[in-house]
Amino acid sequence: MSSNKESFARTLIFVFIVCLVCAALVSFSAVSLKPLQKANKLLDQHTKILEAAGLSDKAGKKAASINAAFDKYIVPKFVDLNTGEYTTGDHETYDERSDARNPEKSTKPKNDIAGINRRADKAAIYLVKNDEGQIDTVVLPIVGMGLWDIMYGYIGLEADLNTVKSVVYYDLKETPGLGAEVQNPKWKALWKGKKMYDEQGNVAIKIVKGGAKPDDVHGVDALSGATLTSRGVEHTIRFWLSDEGYGRFIAKHRGKLTDGGLD
Ligand SMILES: Cc1cc2nc3c(=O)[nH]c(=O)nc-3n(C[C@H](O)[C@H](O)[C@H](O)COP(=O)(O)O)c2cc1C
Repeated sequence: MSSNKESFARTLIFVFIVCLVCAALVSFSAVSLKPLQKANKLLDQHTKILEAAGLSDKAGKKAASINAAFDKYIVPKFVDLNTGEYTTGDHETYDERSDARNPEKSTKPKNDIAGINRRADKAAIYLVKNDEGQIDTVVLPIVGMGLWDIMYGYIGLEADLNTVKSVVYYDLKETPGLGAEVQNPKWKALWKGKKMYDEQGNVAIKIVKGGAKPDDVHGVDALSGATLTSRGVEHTIRFWLSDEGYGRFIAKHRGKLTDGGLD
């Protein structure tokens, strides 16, 4: 009987030690992997921004070359969306999703066509330099509802802040083969060269069901079988180009895009 008790106690001690060792291993890997996770997240962000900037070829596929291209060509900046002025921030740590949930750091749009409920008061944007060191592109983050959920992406505009360079979605839950075709290179290519605003400065970009006319500088074909996601893209872009998004910043910098002299 007493030997039974002893063996039970030993089993308990053994289980306890195994649990302790496992817990130590799990917390050690969680802590030690954190910097790697952060680096990978940043690398992913850099890759998408370089794609939106039209610099994927120059960036290559390796982490070192992607980060080097980002450092060489991209100037991260922050914009106060309520004033359109540059402000300060750290793009490596800034979390737009958390700011957008915080009533003190965000605003409820008057005309919430993007379906986002709240919009963070500031935005991390990315100025893009060419090989001569002149700013020739700006990459602006966008967020808005698709059919199933919020979709996150970037738009790249030339320095006139009107001509489209790219529309790149990187985080979405649309159906593969339908709404997720926003990531199809053929559809993405349709955006290049389109004009976001008309000559009076009104947002004019639109999605055309059945196909835009070849000479329509503001029209992009809707995705076939995914009109609802396409509408989501149109509403998202129109929202972000309006005064509730980057409109004030764009009005201030149209034709004279500078870095504002801030780091
Ligand atoms: C299972 C399922 C998934 C769908 N996913 C999408 C989607 O991701 N995006 C979308 O716009 N439409 C999606 N649709 C289709 C829409 O319900 C709708 O029919 C379509 O957007 C209309 O586009 P069309 O006018 O080009 O046919 C889905 C339909 C089904 C049955």
